[in-house]
Amino acid sequence: MAKPLRLAVAGVGNNISALLQGIYYYRTLIADGADTNKLPGIRHFKIGDFAIGDIELVAAFDVQPEKIGLPIEKAIFCAPNNYPNLGLDIPHSTTIVHNGVHLADKGVMGQAGVATELRQSEADVLLYSLPTGLQRAADAYAECALEAGVSFVNCTPEAVARNPEHLQRFEERGLSLIGDDLASHMGTSMLHRAILDLLINRGLTLENTYQLNLGGNEDFRNLQNRGESKTVSKRNALARTGLDMNRVHVIPSAGVVPHLQDRKVAYLNVIGRGWANMPISIDLKLEVQDSSNAAGVIIDLIRIAASARRRGLAGFNAAAASFLKSPPHGHLADEQERELAELRRLNAACAQELV
Ligand SMILES: NC(=O)c1ccc[n+]([C@@H]2O[C@H](COP(=O)([O-])OP(=O)(O)OC[C@H]3O[C@@H](n4cnc5c(N)ncnc54)[C@H](O)[C@@H]3O)[C@@H](O)[C@H]2O)c1
Repeated sequence: MAKPLRLAVAGVGNNISALLQGIYYYRTLIADGADTNKLPGIRHFKIGDFAIGDIELVAAFDVQPEKIGLPIEKAIFCAPNNYPNLGLDIPHSTTIVHNGVHLADKGVMGQAGVATELRQSEADVLLYSLPTGLQRAADAYAECALEAGVSFVNCTPEAVARNPEHLQRFEERGLSLIGDDLASHMGTSMLHRAILDLLINRGLTLENTYQLNLGGNEDFRNLQNRGESKTVSKRNALARTGLDMNRVHVIPSAGVVPHLQDRKVAYLNVIGRGWANMPISIDLKLEVQDSSNAAGVIIDLIRIAASARRRGLAGFNAAAASFLKSPPHGHLADEQERELAELRRLNAACAQELV
């Protein structure tokens, strides 16, 4: 294996369970001789310096008492996490879940300890994966990363990369800052965006549209009470020239359905008008493994963050924009092409160094 990407995580929830188990799933496939161009669910086998399996989890933080003190491969199976156990033989890890930053009435507690642990771990990237709606926690973990000299990837809708002050400070320190909010691999936002793009590109008029999402994991429970920043971010993901956002309705969590566990069910409805003002109506149901949907994107974002930093490209990297709901400068019409161009640039820079 090439020198691995050293990953630290804040929040050992379903995202991390899906990510860690997935890394071992692919390592096993590769060791068994699978064709690396045909691995299921992989967008880029290699980004910059790192292939899919070249990730080592070197530090982890949580505040749930049952998770603190456990090795990471055990903590990922602690309730209320409910991503399925894939039954893989994950080797025992010396990475233990540490007590994270706690929110207090005024300010936060534990920031200095997290920064120290992070520095000692020599992590390349800190992946911020807490429940949505905790802006003060997001700011505190970003401070820890700055103090420890570690790049930062924000899975949540909280404004970190969209905060110009944070972005400037990460740039000045030569660190990557990638965010905000994952645009899931095949999530409601991406599907909704594709349908709306189609409607606009075909010259139809949008009358009204909604999406509603249901699930049975903690994210859905949390979003019922703290869904504000997610609603904003989901609307950011859909906004584009020519679309009247007053006609777009987004419900991040329409409720918790316990038996769905980590499955997500989303319903999309689009009502438009065509030639001679005649109505057209589309109804779609999407069902996905919610946290696989996150991990399939996280794997690319962390590799972009680490590779860019190693090439001296600090701050936000444009290769990440199409993997996010709320990138700092909004979405661009030619985003996919830009992503590929930037990834080619990163890969070429890495290849040159090997020669
Ligand atoms: N699943 C997806 O497709 C998807 C897509 C976009 C964004 N996200 C976002 O990713 C984030 C994580 O999702 P998840 O499903 O893993 O959530 P989760 O609820 O399963 O996990 C969150 C973890 O953070 C821990 N935590 C809470 N406060 C903490 C603190 N102060 N310090 C450290 N840890 C703390 C919790 O104990 C829990 O272990 C959410 O904000 C979610 O909205 C997920």
